[in-house]
Amino acid sequence: MPMSSRADAFEHWIRTSFVQMNTELENLYFAQSDRSQVTGCGDSIKAALRDEGHAYVVALLAEGNTDDGFDSAFGVLGSVGMYLGALRRHELTNPAREEKSPFPEASSLAMHVGASLGMAPRFSTGHLATYNKARAGVRKSFTTLTDELLFIDENTRGILSLQRAADALTSVVHLGVSSPVADVMFAAAKQALCDVIRFNDRLMRELDVQRFFYSVRPYYKPYRVGRQEYRGANAGDFSGINELDLLLGLCRANDPNYAQLLVDKMLFMLPADQARLRSCMTFTSLLDEFLPLLDQHAGADWFQANARAYLEVCDLFGRTAAQHHNGLVKRFIEAPAENLDARALQGITASGPPLPVLLHALEVLRDMRIAAERSDIATRHADLDRLRRAVRGYP
Ligand code: HEM
Repeated sequence: MPMSSRADAFEHWIRTSFVQMNTELENLYFAQSDRSQVTGCGDSIKAALRDEGHAYVVALLAEGNTDDGFDSAFGVLGSVGMYLGALRRHELTNPAREEKSPFPEASSLAMHVGASLGMAPRFSTGHLATYNKARAGVRKSFTTLTDELLFIDENTRGILSLQRAADALTSVVHLGVSSPVADVMFAAAKQALCDVIRFNDRLMRELDVQRFFYSVRPYYKPYRVGRQEYRGANAGDFSGINELDLLLGLCRANDPNYAQLLVDKMLFMLPADQARLRSCMTFTSLLDEFLPLLDQHAGADWFQANARAYLEVCDLFGRTAAQHHNGLVKRFIEAPAENLDARALQGITASGPPLPVLLHALEVLRDMRIAAERSDIATRHADLDRLRRAVRGYP
């Protein structure tokens, strides 16, 4: 059987039996008085999920790399990654109590494909978001729960819109901040960011806190592949968000904390995104283009129009960042976590660090993006303020 047929058979299973079994298990866990209790519940379904998936993995591993191209390899990485992610969610593996993955065949397959693609050997956001190909209207997911589908879809819409905004601002880099045609690209970026705000609002209103926390988020936990533990996927694993940070000048690639973030996420992104991010790191930010022009050209019409448009983009981007932290993270992670004991708290975040550490890191990112006035971290508050004061009547 050619690789593509085996890969297709695995993916078909992921799209059918695998989804059904996960959904059944979620409904069993959710019906318990303690919804975080996973061990000892639905054991026969868990065993079937483990054993059925194993048969597909072994067949693909024996096949080796048949060079069927990026899509096929990326698809296999998604299938084996979702399989391992589900085994982690159902506590059939747990990095805290093991030194290496108890699933050596699935690990080998993931490492082989991941290394050949230049990506981390686990499923990533691309698999469930921007490269999640729908078949007859159905995209890949872990379960058929409405809240998971809502989460995947709104995340994907948000990611696509942030990418559109980043594309538009990249054009401004090439046009220059004094260009008369920068207006259409600033307008496109604003429109895209307004869309992000709308999707975030919708997620905030419609997503069920309990279902998200107990039945969706656990699939995004870290797990081991071979000996190494890999952090979970999160909606941030695409380059567009960092392109916006860098292009707007709100974050800098030579800031030690931010540089660390970029390095850590590189392999969780698609190779095409990795290349975009690398290229973006070589540009001068729009803010650093505007500032040296301010003294001499602030009175010019082009400066007034383009600096105003730039500031409007910054304000909208800041609103999306504030919405993510003050809205989504607080409502769907921080608040429900308050009711958990220490055992259940372990591993609730996708990246692995304890919740207060993660929340602090996310708060720093939010404050850089809103250019907050802070003495302990380097934000662009003063520089943006200077630009604001130069634009007539800017609020
Ligand atoms: C229920 C909705 C959401 C929740 C609860 C949530 C929560 C989180 C958390 C906790 C992290 C830190 C990663 C970790 O867990 O280790 C994170 C990262 C991130 N999320 Fe979300 N998120 C949500 C939706 C979204 C959406 C819709 C987007 C935009 C498309 C988004 C963009 C990001 C980005 C860019 C990061 C990486 C860190 C950063 O650069 O800010 N998230 N999210």
